[in-house]
Amino acid sequence: MDDIEGKILSNKSIAPGYCLLRVRLSGSMGVVRPGQFIMMKIPDGGVFLRRPFSIYDYQKGVLTIMYKVVGKGTEQLSKAIKDTPVLTLGPLGKWFVLDKRRVPVVVAGGIGFAGVYALIKKLHGKASIFFGCSTKDEVVLLKDAMPFHPLIATLDGSYGFRGNVIQLLKKHLNGLKDKNVEVFTCGPDNMVKSLKGLIEPHGIPCQVLLEERMACGMGLCFGCVKKTTDVQEPYKRVCKEGPVFDLWEISL
Ligand SMILES: Cc1cc2nc3c(=O)[nH]c(=O)nc-3n(C[C@H](O)[C@H](O)[C@H](O)COP(=O)(O)OP(=O)(O)OC[C@H]3O[C@@H](n4cnc5c(N)ncnc54)[C@H](O)[C@@H]3O)c2cc1C
Ligand code: FES
Repeated sequence: MDDIEGKILSNKSIAPGYCLLRVRLSGSMGVVRPGQFIMMKIPDGGVFLRRPFSIYDYQKGVLTIMYKVVGKGTEQLSKAIKDTPVLTLGPLGKWFVLDKRRVPVVVAGGIGFAGVYALIKKLHGKASIFFGCSTKDEVVLLKDAMPFHPLIATLDGSYGFRGNVIQLLKKHLNGLKDKNVEVFTCGPDNMVKSLKGLIEPHGIPCQVLLEERMACGMGLCFGCVKKTTDVQEPYKRVCKEGPVFDLWEISL
């Protein structure tokens, strides 16, 4: 797979420390499925390795990603202006698989929303959405999902439910657990661990999008492995066998 060249159309700050980047690609990415990601870099930008980002949206040759500034690569990206050239490799990885017999429940924490938004869009109102973040400043990340009436938790109680998203989900679990639900999730490790603890006794199926540091993104370097319950081959590459996994097969 080769990089696709692109040029930045817009790169806006949407909340403190969060940006939305739109890139016009010079070639097609082909079919893109919810949960897949791209590896992106700015050529000659001083950061050698590409960085992985979920495909937030892809339409008519325009790729959108939502990202949080956490280090050198995302800092550099946040400063890139309109018309800056970028290199994009993708779509990469496995995607969320939908089972029409199940009622989808999406659970996201913070920038984990970027990993599940394409799924929410595809489900177009059929999913119950639970989102958690620190303060109301981050609620703006959910702007595109607002038509689907997400339930929102903030740690400081400045918007919606006061507490974390798993506490919020717990309040609604009685109404959900008898409905043949399947959970789709992306968020910080602690959130995913709490989610596992909450839904495990109820045997609820769950697909999780894992975010691991990546070097190649294409299955070559084994820099992104995660331990699973597979006895024969316990270590799976997040970029190749993931990033979407069955939660019950992951050792957290
Ligand atoms: C499949 C996948 C999809 C992703 N989608 C998105 C997305 O849509 N939006 C987004 O903002 N981020 C996403 N990420 C995470 C993103 O790739 C990292 O935040 C980014 O690579 C950090 O680069 P940096 O150079 O700014 O930070 P670095 O300087 O490399 O690291 C800064 C800090 O962030 C930590 N860190 C770096 N990468 C990761 C990671 N992958 N997971 C957890 N901690 C990390 C480091 O340990 C360090 O503490 C995704 C990651 C994966 C694997
Ligand atoms: S990042 Fe190289 S194998 Fe996954």
